Order: sequence, then structure tokens, then C-alpha cells
Amino acid sequence: MPIDTSVTLTAQPAPDALLLAFPFDADLAPDAPDLPVPVAGLLAHHEAKGEAGEIVEAPFARGETVGRVLFYGIGDGGAAALRKAGAAVARRAKGRPALSVVLPQGAGQVSALVEGALLATYAFRIGESRTKPVAAVEFVTAAEGAAEGVRRGETIARAVAVARDLANTPSSTKNPAWLAERAGERGVAVRVWDEDALKADGFGGILAVGQGSTQESRLIQLSYEPEDHDGRHVVLVGKGITFDSGGLSLKPTDNMKLQKTDMAGGAVVIAVLGALRELGVRARVTGLVAAAENMPSGTAQRPSDVITHYGGRTVEVLNTDAEGRLVLADALAYADAELDPDLVVDIATLTGAITVALGRSVGAIYANDDDLAAALVDAGGASGDPLWRMPLIDDYAPALESAVADLANVESGGTYGAGSITAALFLREFAGKRAWAHLDIAGVGRSMADEGVLSKGATGFGVRLLLEWLTRRS
Ligand code: BES
Ligand code: MN
Ligand code: ZN
Repeated sequence: MPIDTSVTLTAQPAPDALLLAFPFDADLAPDAPDLPVPVAGLLAHHEAKGEAGEIVEAPFARGETVGRVLFYGIGDGGAAALRKAGAAVARRAKGRPALSVVLPQGAGQVSALVEGALLATYAFRIGESRTKPVAAVEFVTAAEGAAEGVRRGETIARAVAVARDLANTPSSTKNPAWLAERAGERGVAVRVWDEDALKADGFGGILAVGQGSTQESRLIQLSYEPEDHDGRHVVLVGKGITFDSGGLSLKPTDNMKLQKTDMAGGAVVIAVLGALRELGVRARVTGLVAAAENMPSGTAQRPSDVITHYGGRTVEVLNTDAEGRLVLADALAYADAELDPDLVVDIATLTGAITVALGRSVGAIYANDDDLAAALVDAGGASGDPLWRMPLIDDYAPALESAVADLANVESGGTYGAGSITAALFLREFAGKRAWAHLDIAGVGRSMADEGVLSKGATGFGVRLLLEWLTRRS
């Protein structure tokens, strides 16, 4: 359903185009239709500043019909501004059959504009939607290399849409087995552990979280191995809780109704793995999605149960709502023991606390390696998925001590607080000595409104940043 809009690239706008977009400063000849007023006068009349996202409209006559020109601002012409400009233009074309977007002169950032325009057309709806996005967009330029930029922008936007679709799907449809099937549709090799296999291999965290649900748990492994790979191996681990009720540590309704997106990290991993070939990534990349449904029932795990993770470490479960770290611990321990990666990055809607700290626009990164942290922060800023580095404060590690097991899954007193940091400290115990980063995307995983490149609901945060990071490494 995701992005229904088709994309083409041409040197001249279609001769019958009725909706044309031009950058403010464009040299209009010879593509422009005859306007009733001079362009400079029109822009002055509207006191247009040329900021990214700004649009000035003008009608024009084409035979008996009236078309429209959208003059769009591009701000400083950087990637962020062009994403915003593309999104504004595409939103203004909502419901129209076609839009021709004349690209800014020598735009080195064609991909950002295309990405922004396409992301803004994204909508998730079950049943007919009231308004349709623009059906077809043609990007107009004679610049060399534009085709590659358009393709990259489109690939990235469609990957984000894959992640949004998975996260927006209601949990009545989306159980762990369903998620594994979707992973199998992305054109990479997939291995799936069902509950028997999880038991046989000792994935006690994934099993414990899912044991209260009628839906079986799954561990999903996706493998991307380019023929000419450069020898490096990256493992991406995603939290795949297909619904988080909290379990016996039940959530209140207002918090619970948002928790169908608690597999957003896993969705990002699936979407990223599916886009690597198209983007020519040369590293070997393995994705792991630890999928379970967290439900209360007579078979659910109890607060105070002790579970044994992959690799043998024991954890006292003091709060069944701190379930993300339990499934991730298994996957991280497995990656460390079996996959021999150079770098491990996990991504998870892990804690409500990170929304308090960083809000809804910036994701958190924790890392035990400064180079990895810097590279991810850089890629985040460039890609439109910004990250802020948070500290792994060793002094808070005693928060997770347990009298009966190797670790507790939450702090029992109120001494330390810092819920997102202690969650990251818990995960660090399972990442081994590998260079590892953890992205807490609980704050940025959902958008409250249709705005810019975002639509209400799942954001797909992390797809653009990981694709930017992985393509830079190539
Ligand atoms: N899935 C939630 C975190 C979350 C909260 C994601 C809000 C998106 C929006 C996670 O499993 C959770 O419940 N975390 C608890 C941890 C606590 C029990 C230590 C939390 O943040 O309250
Ligand atoms: Mn939870
Ligand atoms: Zn959760």
C-alpha cells in the first residue's frame, strides 16, 4: 500500500502538464508556461523568502484549461532543505494525477529532494482512503548523474515505507510468524527459529517474553552477502515485539494502544536488509529480529521469575514490561558467539524514559566505541534521522544487580533512575567485547501528525541513517 506514487525522470516536462513545480530562482525559459504576471513580481507580491518548504502558486492557461505552477523555496540547498522542499511540493499535489518537478540547477542532492517528495506521499490505511497522494511525479532535469540520484532517493524512500508499513500493521495481523514471512519477501536469505528451535538452541529470553501469548515467538535472521564483499561484517539487531501489553506488569490503556509499533526496530532491520543490494553496499550484513508478543495469561512469565539467556547468563525478571532487553540480550549474545561481526548495532523502541530525555525528533545512541558512535551520529545528521549520543554511566551498573541471578532486568529501588541508560547498560552485558552501538528509538518511532516527510504513525526512523552509514562504508 505504502508509496503508490510512480516516479520518472525526463529532460522536458510533459507538454500537457497541468501541475508544474519550479524552484524560486529558476530560469524559467523554455519550460515554463505563460503566466499572467511576471514571476519576480509574483514572488515579491507574496513576500516570498525562498525558505525550504515555502510555496507560491500561480495559475496559467493551457488552451481551455487552467494549470498551476508551484514555485518552491529550497533554503540553503542542503539535503535537509531539499527533503523539506520535496515534501512540501508533493503534499501540495495531493489528489492530482500528475506533478512535474523541475529540479534546481546543478542540484547535487537530487536524491534528497526525491526522497522527501516520496516520503510525504506515504499513507497507511486499511480500506479506501479519502484522499489519494499524487499518482505520478516526473522530475525534470538535464543534469548528468540525475538518474542515479533519483534512483537512490526512491530506493531509500521505499525502504522507509516498508518499515512504516510493518510497524503500522495492527497486531491482530502482525504476529512473530507473520513478521518472519514478511522478512522472507525482501530478496535476501532468511533463517527462522520457531519455538522448538529456540528451545533447542537456548534462546530463553525470547521464549520467556512470548510464553504468555498464544502467538509463537520467532528469531529471524536475514543475510546479505554481496559477491564482491569487502570482508567486513556488520550485524544489525532489531527489537521485534509485535505487541507490548507489558505482560503481567500490565500497561495502562493509554500507553498500551501505541504498542503495536514495538517492533519498529525489527522493521527497520528488515527494510534495511532489503535495500542493500540496490544501493550497492559491499559489507556483509546480517540482520537479527527477535520477535515475540508480550501478553499476560496463565502461562505468562511472572515478576521474580529467573530466565536463562542464550549463552547461559541468568536474569531475574522483576518487571515483565522491560521485555525488549530480554529478547535483544539473546540476539546480541548469539551474534557475539556465532556470527563473528566487526560491528554490532541494535535498534529498539526500548524505553519511555528516552522520550523524556530527547523528545520525538532525535534518537538516542549508546556505544562502547567512539569511532562507531561518531560515524553513526554523522550518518544520522546527514540522512534526516538525527542521533544524540548518550552516556553509558558505569556508576549506574549496580542498579541491575540481583541477589538470585547474574542480573536483574530493571532496577528494584529508586536509587539510580535513568531508565534508558540502565537499559543500555543491561544490553552491553550481552554484546561481548565487540564494537557495539544501541539505538533507543522509543521517542522517534512514531509521529503524532502528518508533517514534512512524516505521516501520522510509524516513522521508519533508523532506515535512512543505517542506509547512509552502510553506503558510506562502501
Ligand atoms: N515498549 C516499551 C517502551 C516504549 C514506551 C516504546 C512508549 C514506545 C513508547 C518498553 O518495552 C517498556 O515498556 N519499557 C518500560 C521499561 C520499564 C519497565 C523499566 C518503560 O519505558 O516504561
Ligand atoms: Mn514493555
Ligand atoms: Zn516494549
